[in-house]
Amino acid sequence: MHLYPAHEAPADETQRETLGASASAAPVGTGRASGKVILLGEHAVVYGVPALAIGIDRGARATAFEGGSPTSVLEVPAWDVRVAEGDASTDLGRAFTALVAAAREHGACASLARSGSVTVSAYSELPPGGGLGCSAALGVAIARALVPALAATEVADLAMAWERVFHGNPSGIDAAVAAHGGSILFERGNPMQPVPLKGTLTVCLGSTGVPSSTKTMVDGVARLRERKPELVEKSFAGITSLVRNARLALEADDTVGLGKLMDLNQMILSGLFVSTEEIERLCGLAREAGALGAKLTGAGGGGCVVALAADGVSADRIVAAWEAAGFSGFSSTVQATIAAANAAPPAAEASA
Ligand code: PMV
Repeated sequence: MHLYPAHEAPADETQRETLGASASAAPVGTGRASGKVILLGEHAVVYGVPALAIGIDRGARATAFEGGSPTSVLEVPAWDVRVAEGDASTDLGRAFTALVAAAREHGACASLARSGSVTVSAYSELPPGGGLGCSAALGVAIARALVPALAATEVADLAMAWERVFHGNPSGIDAAVAAHGGSILFERGNPMQPVPLKGTLTVCLGSTGVPSSTKTMVDGVARLRERKPELVEKSFAGITSLVRNARLALEADDTVGLGKLMDLNQMILSGLFVSTEEIERLCGLAREAGALGAKLTGAGGGGCVVALAADGVSADRIVAAWEAAGFSGFSSTVQATIAAANAAPPAAEASA
């Protein structure tokens, strides 16, 4: 799996040029969304345990154009994919259909209301199946393009119509982070809580090169829970206290403590059989290169590893160690101010 460098992301105008004749009209709505990195708490979060996550600057964006066909259309030019509303033959078609239906209920953009259809062009900077919330980022970006000026919480709710198609029983953390950005504590069924950061957080994301299915991994944990309920409940109790302490560490800018908690979380995730040889290798390489902590992020079974770095220099060393071993990776920083910037809908949405 290749993690696309940010500069490979086509600008919106380039993106339009690659579209069909249906998209020759002016844009009527735009949206963007963050990729998400779960720092601690994946899998357990599905069962109500809180999780800590951050939004990264790589994400997804979408532009809606005045409809050129009787039904709405979604195009992802970089993947050479095109689906129409009502197309039930693929997950993407079903997800888009569900999202457009939900958007109509929420008071979709004037164009969708007027002509009954739009053409949406979407682009993701995240690898699908990489544990970085690619599907949720796309869902949130498209929801923003379809329904202007929604608050981040409402956008995340809307995008759940899309997420349910891909993930069956999603906790909602991916959509919440994609919509809010920044750093958040997420607990299923409760309003998400922004976690204020005292300093800049530097993380490295390394790809195992193995795509994984969130649904398959979540189902695997559910089966283990049926077979060995005690083991899984104990694991979840352990993760609960790690997440609580990690929140305090984040708020106190104690990155050394946070890194240790991430390492412990990785041990528990291995015990739930969601880690792999490649994940352990990436974690080991990161720690040897000076990472404060490293673990899988997302569903596991492949996908990505997150390593916490003390600073940019350390982050460069970690990514270089991965690359020397044949893996790809990149680093990202999160600042408290990003949360506020992402929570507000982009100006273009508001005016669409
Ligand atoms: O692999 P991702 O990026 O879809 O993350 C999944 C996170 C899980 O906790 C495993 C599932 C969920 O719905 O929260």
